[in-house]
Amino acid sequence: MENFIAYNPVKLHFGRGVTDKLGQTASQYGKKALFVYGKGSTVKHGYYAKIKKQLEKSGIETVEYKGIKSNPVYEDVEAAIALARKEKVDMVIALGGGSVIDSSKIISMCVQEDLDSWQVMTRKQLPQKSLPLITILTLAATGTEMNAAAVLQNHKTGQKIGYVNPLAYPKHSFTDPEFTYSVPKNYTAYGVVDMIAHALEAYFGEGTSRLTDKFIISMIQEAMHFGPLVLKEPENYDYRANVMWVGTTALNGMTNWGKKTGDWGVHTLGHELSLQFDIAHGASLSIAYPAWMKLQIEKAGNRIASLGQALWGDGDLRSTIRNFENFFESMESPIRLQQAGIDVDKRANIVDGLNANQASGAVYPLNDQEREKLVGFMYEGAL
Ligand code: NZQ
Ligand code: ZN
Repeated sequence: MENFIAYNPVKLHFGRGVTDKLGQTASQYGKKALFVYGKGSTVKHGYYAKIKKQLEKSGIETVEYKGIKSNPVYEDVEAAIALARKEKVDMVIALGGGSVIDSSKIISMCVQEDLDSWQVMTRKQLPQKSLPLITILTLAATGTEMNAAAVLQNHKTGQKIGYVNPLAYPKHSFTDPEFTYSVPKNYTAYGVVDMIAHALEAYFGEGTSRLTDKFIISMIQEAMHFGPLVLKEPENYDYRANVMWVGTTALNGMTNWGKKTGDWGVHTLGHELSLQFDIAHGASLSIAYPAWMKLQIEKAGNRIASLGQALWGDGDLRSTIRNFENFFESMESPIRLQQAGIDVDKRANIVDGLNANQASGAVYPLNDQEREKLVGFMYEGAL
């Protein structure tokens, strides 16, 4: 067991009807908010109206930035920062999935000190303060609702990168499973894949903590149990609530307690796919994880075997990888690039992009030759 610090300042409001207290909560932070949301799902399904009513009731004026795209981009974040500065807002309120919340985290760190969001993402500028951020999650997947991470794409520099800063923790995070009833089947499945991938990145991390490994295994088991159920009954409160809770716990810090670090190599592979093909984050991971396990069969064989034993009572390496593939396929998340519409003629572009961005993990570093092999597994699958 490694030494560790457990810290998470997010006040999480979890459950049915929690946003009824949103106005009251937000009014502690001022009178004017930048209200950030996505392309329209929140308006269509009535969440926008609910939140707006709460804010109006508490006398909070809103300035809106709408249209954040899935796999968010630098340009949107910069435009929202400019608006927030011009309007002198007191806080940022984010309504949406990971893309909206991540963008809002970066916005909240850049407004006051005239920072450039890409300079912050690339750690050339270090924010010293941030506007209070309140988030309302509408998609169970990333864990962003209770962590200090944000991920952003920049097509000019050809990068999709993550950034972690304690200033990015939301002050309050509202997670009502009913706000996820309308998430379509595909994104529900990608969300389940993403939370499993977060648990796995921690599992393949450095340092051993038996209890933490048990948390991790339980999270994967819960996601594999409730994932298929929620696809069948998308408006079942209990199913949505359980999936949502796994999503939050899988990346709120606890999978790292007693360990040094996660690996995160598979996420760097997935980010390259999202950058080049705008593929959904979870879909990139159901392709990349089995490929990565195939590559690491020798170096991480013991860990893969214990995982298979814990999840399926079978420590055989090939069966374990196949079981993951079967689960992802049963959720209709792609396990090969072709299934995501990325044909073999893109092979060299992917390898070049991965090499240019030095896609790699903290515990299992990857070299050029291995990256090429990984892309082969993502297309052909066979070991
Ligand atoms: O844009 P709208 O119209 O709102 O539609 C969204 C979007 O098309 C839709 N959606 C969201 N909630 C909905 C809904 N549709 C119907 N009903 C609802 N309740 O779903 C689509 C996907 O949304 P998005 O926010 O992009 O998905 P997700 O939550 O998976 O976030 C993905 C982003 O988060 C990053 C990913 O890389 C990606 O950029 N990640 C962030 C992490 C973090 N901050 O800790 C960690 C993750 O590993 C991940 O990298
Ligand atoms: Zn992820």
